[in-house]
Amino acid sequence: MEERAELMSGSGLISVRASGIHGLGCFAAAEIPAGTVVIEYRGELIDRAEALRRDDRGRPGSSPYVLNVSEDLYIDGAVGGNEARFINHSCEPNCRVRRVGGRAWIVAARTITEGEELSFDYDYEGDPQGPCRCGARTCRGYL
Ligand SMILES: C[S@@+](CC[C@H](N)C(=O)[O-])C[C@H]1O[C@@H](n2cnc3c(N)ncnc32)[C@H](O)[C@@H]1O
Ligand SMILES: [Zn+2]
Repeated sequence: MEERAELMSGSGLISVRASGIHGLGCFAAAEIPAGTVVIEYRGELIDRAEALRRDDRGRPGSSPYVLNVSEDLYIDGAVGGNEARFINHSCEPNCRVRRVGGRAWIVAARTITEGEELSFDYDYEGDPQGPCRCGARTCRGYL
């Protein structure tokens, strides 16, 4: 039987389970119309210096859940975060990140069908973190 985490967003729009891309991922529990605010990316608000310290490429104490929200602000989903931290990267994403005043929301970039994995572009341009397994036709090969 497929592994399924016990997590479900408050809105019931997403579920968290094993992903073919990496580890756990977020999946649409129902059709999500384009433009829907799916979930807020919650976590601890930290500055750039602290983000760089935590975003330490898998070393002990590092966090893979750090999201940039402005030039000097980052959210670490590992601390007080929610299901949004499990959204994987795709080079052809179906979601985008809306960043406003130190907060971030995941928004459907197109209509997402039930069962589809949610993704956004991590946009690590110039600072590649490893091979990409998104499977998109136009995959850049790294994330
Ligand atoms: C925010 S986490 C995503 C949730 C993750 N799947 C988990 O189970 O915790 C980000 C990490 O997931 C992995 N990841 C996400 N998207 C990926 C992709 N397209 N290809 C390879 N690894 C990916 C990378 O290790 C990355 O550092
Ligand atoms: Zn890719």
